[in-house]
Amino acid sequence: MRLILLGPPGAGKGTQASKIIQKYDIPHISTGDIFRKNIKEGTELGKKAKEYMDKGLLVPDELVVAIVEDRLKEKDCNNGFLLDGFPRTVNQAEALDKVLSNMNTALEKVINIEVDKEKLIERAVGRRICRDCGLAYHIKFNKPEIENKCDSCGGDLYQRDDDKEETVSKRIEVYLNETAPLIDYYSDKGIIENINGQQHIDKVFEEIVLALGSEK
Ligand code: AP5
Ligand code: ZN
Repeated sequence: MRLILLGPPGAGKGTQASKIIQKYDIPHISTGDIFRKNIKEGTELGKKAKEYMDKGLLVPDELVVAIVEDRLKEKDCNNGFLLDGFPRTVNQAEALDKVLSNMNTALEKVINIEVDKEKLIERAVGRRICRDCGLAYHIKFNKPEIENKCDSCGGDLYQRDDDKEETVSKRIEVYLNETAPLIDYYSDKGIIENINGQQHIDKVFEEIVLALGSEK
């Protein structure tokens, strides 16, 4: 299964990605996670990306596309992949089409998670992430069993630097201007599935599975 997860910041892409990769047994490629890992490790890429991320802006296309291209050429992507947070501009989408066509393959489905703008800020600002395994929680909607500890691995939970209210608003604005045009881009190709993201996490996942079919 070769998939893209599309949706505004805080729509639940990361939350659903954890479930999808388990069910369909495909690698999760999140450009946001790749950048955060590089920031943590203090790499040159991390330093460059942080300048943009802290302001809620997109990292320049040329940095992102090269990373995704290398990752897609790894062996574990032979049977499929889930791209989360990429592409984010029409330019990135066109670059992805070229990369996949050079590899004699193509996308199968784009899952577009829809959530109203007002809900997104509350979701992002209340989000807490596990420092060790990256699982996302929410102080109201998806609480861990023990406060500030990950249910899955026991790691400490933290708040992302770009989840402050003013940065989230900027990210939403950037999404509307630069990423939302991808909905038309993939609708025109006939591969988009729109999913109502304003339901319980398990219900959203059920709808995604229905849209994808239950086979691997
Ligand atoms: P990235 O890491 O991709 O962040 P994002 O797209 O802004 O998405 P989020 O991670 O904020 O949200 P999500 O949809 O995954 O929501 P989640 O599941 O956590 O990008 C960060 C930055 O990196 C960008 O701003 C940019 O600078 C850079 N970048 C990354 N990729 C790039 C690219 N391709 N090009 C250029 N720059 C790039 O859920 C949110 C919260 O809601 C959680 O607390 C969760 O528990 C809760 N929740 C989830 N589902 C539900 C539900 N159904 N009901 C109630 N609560 C829910
Ligand atoms: Zn964890």
